[in-house]
Amino acid sequence: MAARRLSLLLSRTASSNPFLRGNNSRLTRGAFSYSTSAAIEEPLTPSVKVDYTQLLINGKFVDSASGKTFPTLDPRTGNVIAHVAEGDSEDVDRAVAAARKAFDEGPWPKMTAYERSRILLRFADLLEKHNDEVATLETWDNGKPYEQAAKIEIPMVVRFFRYYAGWADKIHGLTVPADGEHHVQILHEPFGVAGQIIPWNFPLLMFAWKVAPALACGNTIVLKTAEQTPLSALYVAKLFLEAGLPPGVLNIISGFGPTAGAALSSHMDVDKLAFTGSTETGKIVLQLAAKSNLKPVTLELGGKSPFIVCEDADVEKAAELAHFALFFNQGQCCCAGSRTFVHERIYDQFLEKAKALAVNRVVGDPFKAGIQQGPQIDTEQFEKILRYIRLGVDSGATLETGGERFGSTGYYVQPTVFSNVQDDMLIAKEEIFGPVQSILKFKDLGDVVRRANTTRYGLAAGVFTQNIDTANTLTRALRAGTVWVNCFDVFDAAIPFGGYKMSGQGREKGIYGLNSYLQVKAVVTPLKNPAWI
Ligand code: NAI
Ligand code: MG
Repeated sequence: MAARRLSLLLSRTASSNPFLRGNNSRLTRGAFSYSTSAAIEEPLTPSVKVDYTQLLINGKFVDSASGKTFPTLDPRTGNVIAHVAEGDSEDVDRAVAAARKAFDEGPWPKMTAYERSRILLRFADLLEKHNDEVATLETWDNGKPYEQAAKIEIPMVVRFFRYYAGWADKIHGLTVPADGEHHVQILHEPFGVAGQIIPWNFPLLMFAWKVAPALACGNTIVLKTAEQTPLSALYVAKLFLEAGLPPGVLNIISGFGPTAGAALSSHMDVDKLAFTGSTETGKIVLQLAAKSNLKPVTLELGGKSPFIVCEDADVEKAAELAHFALFFNQGQCCCAGSRTFVHERIYDQFLEKAKALAVNRVVGDPFKAGIQQGPQIDTEQFEKILRYIRLGVDSGATLETGGERFGSTGYYVQPTVFSNVQDDMLIAKEEIFGPVQSILKFKDLGDVVRRANTTRYGLAAGVFTQNIDTANTLTRALRAGTVWVNCFDVFDAAIPFGGYKMSGQGREKGIYGLNSYLQVKAVVTPLKNPAWI
């Protein structure tokens, strides 16, 4: 997702979403910038039906064992969209048993890799066909701009499944010469039952990052969605069944972290665990895995990623990209460029541009065309962000623009820019996960490398320079799993993603994403007549 392509798509004015009630002229009239005093207009009503609210266990949609449900909310208003079955440990047990059976006795790992690949491809085709419905559910449940969901994220999910479908029948082991007296084969085998726990910021994209490689390798899955965004995964689960996925291969549990999530993490019959979310919860999940059956765990956690604007940078472009790096997806990105370091010589010019971009950012109902920023996910995140803004002001940073709630309903926050931010302020150290840009001044490369690396996180970094030597120096000196140079948030199924330090363990995507779902078996047999070879 190149930054330029994304901003072009987001600036289109006509919406073609067939799943909204109301006509397009009403849609286009709704866009406005936060600097106007207008309140958020009456929210548009998505007309897509929420058909799937139960758990998916063993190929069937079922109620939870307790019969309990929980509401999933519309972040534009806080109103209930639907009541969803609430899974707990008994449901996790049932789902793991189904996944176990599908792995041990069922067809999935025994099917030819070519057939598995064809099911993944059929699923991708079906998802492509239902792109707009799924994007509508995603926007409704999460609050992200519809155009972002429909034109970027869901197509990316489709691409992701096609990419891993392509790998399915190309996974193979090795033979090694060893001592010359033995025939040694190295087999790459699926783990078995994979437990997966995903967050709410990119619900279906995170589903794809976890499900696609696990299935391509022949694992079966129990996936727990985030309690804030259960809807899109359930909808696409139905498409998976339609594509011919055998029962029990993919099970989906909606529910809460300390109950369903903890039950999955500590389950004795789950062979591998993958988690995306906060560093705090990542630690809990790792402990639960260790205390139960020592299942291997991959973690994709938080970040406080530096975005470094060098003195030779094109200031206009750098400011636009820094704005995108932070504000994209309401600032709810693990890899958000949340510490904007700017060289002292261009600092004032940059600040002016950054401020103007924030002032002109178009906030409003994410279903309206041209909207760049919707509401935050829920009241907890909304309050957390406002708390950090107050902390920023109290600690002496300069509030350049924003700083308050936007409108009077839902979880909208004004695009906010702080200048004069110092390294020891909490807003420069902790993950805010909201539309709050912190701008810091630096003197030279040595200074900025040291400061950029002074963090417990190491997920990503951005470097903006026209000098190849500066770029080479910084890309090697920065301790982060991804360094984007003169671009940001460029994702592709083939590019590995993951964190240094407390931003995670292991890698997802690309060939590295496959390795986390495969284990290695050495098979050794004597060679009868080694002298003959
Ligand atoms: P979280 O890390 O608690 O939630 C992520 C997932 O973990 C959800 O599915 C949740 O139900 C599950 N979970 C929670 N407690 C669990 C437990 N004890 N055992 C097993 N699973 C558990 O994140 P939350 O509370 O939604 O957001 C808190 C902060 O985390 C955010 O403000 C943000 O800073 C960060 N975050 C980072 C994300 C990333 O992409 N790295 C995504 C979401 C949040
Ligand atoms: Mg919701």
